[in-house]
Amino acid sequence: MVERALGAIILAAGKGTRMKSDLPKVLHALGGKPMIRHVTDTVSGLSVERVCVVVAPGMERVAVAVAPHRTAIQAGALGTGHAALSAAVEMEDFGGDIFILFGDTPLITPETMRALVAARQGEDGPAVVVLGMRPAGPNAYGRLIQAPDGALERIVEAKDATPEELSAPVCNSGVMLVDGSRLFHWLRRIGNDNAKGEYYLTDLVALARADGCACAVVEGAEGELLGVNSRAELAAAEAVLQRRLREAAMAEGVTMPMPETVYLCCDTRFGRDVFVGPHTVFGPDVTVGNRVEIKGFCHFEGATIADGAILGPYARLRPGADIRSDAHIGNFVEVKKAIIEEGAKANHLAYIGDARVGAGANIGAGTITCNYDGFDKHVTDIGAGAFIGSNTALVAPVTVGAGALVAAGSTVSQDVPADALAIERAPQEQREGWAKRFRERKERAKAGRAAE
Ligand code: UD1
Ligand code: MG
Repeated sequence: MVERALGAIILAAGKGTRMKSDLPKVLHALGGKPMIRHVTDTVSGLSVERVCVVVAPGMERVAVAVAPHRTAIQAGALGTGHAALSAAVEMEDFGGDIFILFGDTPLITPETMRALVAARQGEDGPAVVVLGMRPAGPNAYGRLIQAPDGALERIVEAKDATPEELSAPVCNSGVMLVDGSRLFHWLRRIGNDNAKGEYYLTDLVALARADGCACAVVEGAEGELLGVNSRAELAAAEAVLQRRLREAAMAEGVTMPMPETVYLCCDTRFGRDVFVGPHTVFGPDVTVGNRVEIKGFCHFEGATIADGAILGPYARLRPGADIRSDAHIGNFVEVKKAIIEEGAKANHLAYIGDARVGAGANIGAGTITCNYDGFDKHVTDIGAGAFIGSNTALVAPVTVGAGALVAAGSTVSQDVPADALAIERAPQEQREGWAKRFRERKERAKAGRAAE
């Protein structure tokens, strides 16, 4: 087996006109991660030694998103062939084998890329290997024109194809692996005499064939080669990714009775024996421990959930929520930047922000940490075993000591010592028989009006 160094050029300089967006197309996210990062992460997992992402002038945000990989700038979006040539400054001295990938084709898997590497093997292996696919329905992909023995002759873009060429069953995914020592020689010879007046990367195949070099096709699954050009295609790619993420989670020991209703991010991490009920959204940066029960309809982002915790239904965890083992966060409870220590419970209708809730503490229904004064955020600290009665407002900064009890309905603005009772309530007035007299008076008045 010939071991050649692997490099990759990822094209991302296209205008992305069909997205109708101010954001560069490749920064639109799938599973909480920009499309271009899906491609660079896949490539990084393949021992690719040098990666160059081709961006357009003004796409600094893309360069930041792919750092520390190299970037090259394509001045003028003159087509995919021109874009690949723009990487010459970074890649021409590399030699080896060079992948050409598209930033808008984010679902490609390492296994498929390895199949291209395998096809290049051998003393007289093909100089160019193109990844093809067989889409189910009508489409605007380029067509792979193959000889009867399967060898690749040329690629024709749908807009330039004759009806007969359009009926070719295998389409161009855009991905190819090319002998790096000849790649730039061919790229320089690509012209723009075609329907779009663009320099087509796809013309490289006919040029290689004219030089007597063999070109081959490896076929991949349509699902992983979806090109994202519009918001509808973005949603189609998201659907494929979500299916993959759910299947991976279930394979790791997560129970999901209705997986199709659960949204995951690429960085969602689960322990074993986790239960995820229907209609739950995992935003970016959520880690879930073992034996966690997530009843349905929850929304989490930036949160850590430790072993044995029970959440929801309808729990909301925002960034900095740190739910320790066996804690309970119930319906309509919002937690932000707060530690809920071992076994603490907030089961109904509460806001806990910028806070610590000590182990075993109980937060009653309707408890609010008043953390914001319109200018700054302040901290609420609740000690272990404290009991916060229902409908309590904790005006931060404030501390409730361990084992203290706050009576329901209190507005707590002074620190409560450990084991003390804090009660902030107007004394209740009692008027014996008042309700009965009131009712009788009203009923008499009503009967009098009816008799008039
Ligand atoms: C391209 C292929 C087509 C293939 C399809 C698969 C060509 C000529 N056509 O068409 O055969 O079936 O992908 O999805 O290659 N880009 C640049 N600079 C440019 C133009 C494009 O960097 O000047 C980048 C884009 O950012 C994108 C990629 O190249 O990531 C593909 O460009 P796009 O315009 O989407 O090509 P398609 O029309 O989809
Ligand atoms: Mg495209």
